[in-house]
Amino acid sequence: MPRNILKTLQNEHDALRELFAEINDTTDRAAKGRAQLLESIEANLLPHAKWEEAVFYPAFAERANRDGLKAHAEAVLEHHAVEDVVMPEVHAAATNTPEFAGRVKVFGELIDHHAKEEESTLFKMARKLFTSEELAAFDEQYEEWKNSSAASLVIAGEKGKTQVKSAIKSLTS
Ligand SMILES: [Fe+2]
Ligand SMILES: [Fe+2]
Ligand SMILES: [Fe+2]
Repeated sequence: MPRNILKTLQNEHDALRELFAEINDTTDRAAKGRAQLLESIEANLLPHAKWEEAVFYPAFAERANRDGLKAHAEAVLEHHAVEDVVMPEVHAAATNTPEFAGRVKVFGELIDHHAKEEESTLFKMARKLFTSEELAAFDEQYEEWKNSSAASLVIAGEKGKTQVKSAIKSLTS
């Protein structure tokens, strides 16, 4: 089997689903475990989301028909909702509280919703829009990018932005 970006992204969705199942299973006493699981979730999610936004989604939009463009707009807005609202609110809650548990549950629900739609719509369309050689090339490019210093910078920047938004939420809530 040649490598395929869609398979890689799908596997990463599954890994995220497992991490969310784990974190949803914790109690308010597991403050440290929750913090570690949140770290792992973000370590898996951020490179995935940033690469989709920077490379995969634009390449998809270039070839998509009207239905594809609608799916693309939906996916982009879901990324923004998670990044701008959900993640900062998760970070604004102390990990030993029911607020954290409720917010992290919504975080997981949105990721699952979004991943399901990517799998059933966007990836399905992408299988027809790109050749297997192109899907393999994307996969190689993604792996290289994940290991690059550019990726580390982007991830660090994202984490910083979440902290700033979270601090503002704490002030106003
Ligand atoms: Fe996505
Ligand atoms: Fe959706
Ligand atoms: Fe995805």
